[in-house]
Amino acid sequence: MALNVLSVASEAVPLVKTGGLADVVGALPAALAPHGAVLTTLLPGFPAVLEALGRAKVLHRYDSLLGQPARLLAGKLGDQPLIVLDAPGYFAREGGLYTGPDGKDWGDNWRRFAALGRAAADLAGGLVKGRKFDLVHAHDWQAAMALAYLRFAPLPGSKPVPSVMTVHNMAFQGYYPREVFKELGLPRRAWAIDGVEFHAGVGFLKAGMEAASVITTVSPSYALEIREAEFGMGLEGLVINRGSLVRGIVNGIDPAEWDPARDPHLAATYTARTLPRRSANKRALEAEFGLEPGEGPLFVVISRLTWQKGIDVLLEVLDHLVGIGGRLALLGSGDAGIEAQLQAAAARHPGRIGVRIGYDEALSHRMQGGGDAILVPSRFEPCGLTQLYGLAYACVPVVARTGGLADTIIDANLAACAAGAATGVQFSGVSYHPLAAAISRTVALFHQAEVWQTIQRRGMKADFSWTSSGKLYADLYREVIAG
Ligand code: ADP
Ligand code: GLC
Repeated sequence: MALNVLSVASEAVPLVKTGGLADVVGALPAALAPHGAVLTTLLPGFPAVLEALGRAKVLHRYDSLLGQPARLLAGKLGDQPLIVLDAPGYFAREGGLYTGPDGKDWGDNWRRFAALGRAAADLAGGLVKGRKFDLVHAHDWQAAMALAYLRFAPLPGSKPVPSVMTVHNMAFQGYYPREVFKELGLPRRAWAIDGVEFHAGVGFLKAGMEAASVITTVSPSYALEIREAEFGMGLEGLVINRGSLVRGIVNGIDPAEWDPARDPHLAATYTARTLPRRSANKRALEAEFGLEPGEGPLFVVISRLTWQKGIDVLLEVLDHLVGIGGRLALLGSGDAGIEAQLQAAAARHPGRIGVRIGYDEALSHRMQGGGDAILVPSRFEPCGLTQLYGLAYACVPVVARTGGLADTIIDANLAACAAGAATGVQFSGVSYHPLAAAISRTVALFHQAEVWQTIQRRGMKADFSWTSSGKLYADLYREVIAG
């Protein structure tokens, strides 16, 4: 029998995206469809979402959803069902999804995403006739309150609904002062150590993780790492307590979006058999970033510019990278201080380092299709997608040995190279020496053309489509529903 799952999140490709969460939420419905699960995605009515929706059927009207009028609208995400929470008071704003034009978090984020959670719990409880759900799948803190409402304040008369809470990043928890509790419409008993209370405030992610039937994170290694304080970020005790109910399922990539054989963004499309065609993309990329042609590899970085991503350490090794013949094209945005330092580094190394500050999906494809190697020096990485796109595009990943990066890349050590198994370069510890050594090693490998091409081709063959992870989620849904 088909399973009906309500997948709740704040972003989904192709409608709204600030990071990998959107890629995953956007890809899951098609990934699960072959396994007999129909995912209906619930998204906030951000302007871009409503615009794409056009005229839509109204499923429900709220006079007041935690203080604002709201509607639930039916639509499509690709060819899969979508429900949009249209609440202009919460979501019709100029600025970012979570931050205002000043770059600071919206002061009412707690209310905006509690409202999303309330609506999700209502839907799951049977609010709309003809829309029944067997399970709720909540993604990250923005959706986590859905599970707290289902647990402590379900729609009157509804049956309990099993749930999965997927944590894409423990660093973002949705933590608010205790005063917001009384505004959430939860009973007093929810204010408990195993409820929504967290260090005398309200923890959205924590509340979802406590309430969920099963918790997942986006790679097996990260599922283990978050048992430690360094990665668990205060929730390691909860993770340990929930024991075998915390699982790791690695993300896939969506071949409809990321396939070098038919990527409309590339000057030249290619396959593992036609790798030399990449050189046209490389030349185009050099021109786009104002880089001089050179013998050494062209490194690329596509990243949020934050502490997590280790870009501050990358800055330290740039002189070394250039000194041994490398060049760098970087696309990213985030921390203003890091942005300024990157631009200063580009000015110091004209023709060798090119920096583009901003968010540009099409350019990110051209970089994967033309770069020789993609650097991902993350301090922690729950899964990471850019290294997976790098594999698919023969842009060899050079990654820190952490989380999903450790799980998805096979280091080009002697044994792996001899066995033809290597797909990239890994290094341990995000600091100057390990990163500089990894860059030196990459440059040396690049100059051994045959070895390099074997690594590229092997990476392209690695299967990070959703085929296996889609099945893992479907099996998990069935396990959770069976109780
Ligand atoms: P995270 O979600 O932590 O940022 P991931 O590697 O999982 O890291 O996903 C990042 C996603 O965002 C990828 O699809 C990547 O290509 C994209 N991305 C990141 N920064 C940019 C940018 N400046 N321009 C275009 N795409 C970007
Ligand atoms: C988060 C993580 C990233 C992961 C993405 C999608 O943003 O930082 O590692 O790939 O979610 O799961």
